[in-house]
Amino acid sequence: MGFPEGFLWGGATAANQYEGGYLDGGKGLSTLDAITGGSHTVPRKISFKTADGEIKYVTRDQELGKGATGYVDPDQYYPSHVATDFYHHWKEDIALFAEMGFKTFRMSIAWSRLFPRGDEKEPNEEGVKFYEDVFKELRKYDIEPLVTLNHFDMPMYLADEMDGWLDRRVVDYFVNFARVCFTRYKGLVTLWKTFNEINFMRAWNTLGTKTYDDQTRYQALHHVFVASAKTVLLGHVIDPHNSVGMMIAYGTSYPEDCNPDNYMKNIEEMHVKQFFCDVQCRGYYPNYKLKEFERNGVVIKKEEFDDEILLDGTVDFIGFSYYSSGITTTRTDAETTDGNQRRNVKNPHLKANDWGWQIDPVGLRIALNELYDRYELPLFVVENGLGAIDTVEEDGSINDDYRIDYLAAHIEEMKKAVEIDGVDLMGYTPWGCIDLVSAGTGEMRKRYGFIYVDMDDEGKGTLKRSKKKSFDWYKKVIASNGEDLSK
Ligand code: BG6
Repeated sequence: MGFPEGFLWGGATAANQYEGGYLDGGKGLSTLDAITGGSHTVPRKISFKTADGEIKYVTRDQELGKGATGYVDPDQYYPSHVATDFYHHWKEDIALFAEMGFKTFRMSIAWSRLFPRGDEKEPNEEGVKFYEDVFKELRKYDIEPLVTLNHFDMPMYLADEMDGWLDRRVVDYFVNFARVCFTRYKGLVTLWKTFNEINFMRAWNTLGTKTYDDQTRYQALHHVFVASAKTVLLGHVIDPHNSVGMMIAYGTSYPEDCNPDNYMKNIEEMHVKQFFCDVQCRGYYPNYKLKEFERNGVVIKKEEFDDEILLDGTVDFIGFSYYSSGITTTRTDAETTDGNQRRNVKNPHLKANDWGWQIDPVGLRIALNELYDRYELPLFVVENGLGAIDTVEEDGSINDDYRIDYLAAHIEEMKKAVEIDGVDLMGYTPWGCIDLVSAGTGEMRKRYGFIYVDMDDEGKGTLKRSKKKSFDWYKKVIASNGEDLSK
């Protein structure tokens, strides 16, 4: 009963939100280095130069226009540049993860740290060495690295010069990057994921494209799918011990009520995310998507053998992030609230955090069931957590009971999925196990960690690390393999 032996408890981070050192050690600029800070009410912006050299700012859902190039404004604050500075604190941080008893640690490799422009044949050795040292340090404590090869970032040069993933050459550049990771970290890393939240790759910052119409997006995504499948195949050839998974943002969605129209609409809504799993787990484009392409005049240009590559390069496991669920309705006047990268219809049965994200632990069990029923592949909850404002008391303590309550409720439901529903679950890595920059808002005040980092929304702070109340709680959870969730 309970979680299986060897269940991988840990925590999750991403280079662009945690690592910092944005130009240290020969790193090149990434698209995410040109995204400003923001807040719950003020959106983050992309700074860029138009084809005529004019400096402009747009929100991430606005197109940059042909010929645009990313631009880092020296007078602007960009949260990714220092982030919470893992680059200079990795030993200290890993020691804290080890103290909590982590079995795994999820992190991403910044593509532009290994390949500053993206199109080089050989990597930047200083960058290769940085991650090698980090992986060795993790291994010292028996912590299994869980590595995301791409967490939203792309070398800015590839976006500037080639329109990012729209250019077929980027497939080869990415696979070369993956080849270097697999060969240079062989024996240190066996757990990999290709693209973080692949269903949220849609704009300049993630896909590197300058226009966002369906034709552009799906052609670019086709290249991402091919790159992912080639990466899976390559990972297996380089080391048969490698397990290479996909990663999707997966919150289940409920029809608003038993009105058949709402139910049908919900099927369509689920297809939006299932598409990404269908291609990566089944190895081909599903009919509902092909019909949509036909209706909308989207034509995917494929190269010979692309279909075979997709079919052969299906993933070994599904990693997914889960924060909340959604509701589908045919009504146009439904009240909405914020969610992960999109607005959701308000669910009267749920409470929400300060950013409007609705809290639904049972939804996690449902998500686990849905994914396992559909694909029968091992699952990994690689992100989950509560973004909240923490208060540092006068004595330095941080009493984040709300975070403990959130995580405990989700672990309970995960346990039911394993014990009662028989879902094959590999592990659990709550998001932002150490405080880091919010992807959505660029804020620091939206914290997820067990470890507090002294840094504010303007990038001011000592970067000092301190333990929150949840630190000792999670340590106990791990030591009891998820049995003891008490405070
Ligand atoms: C996921 C991303 O969308 O959610 C992370 O993979 C992100 O990068 C996390 O940080 C939480 O979102 P936010 O906006 O609260 O940082």
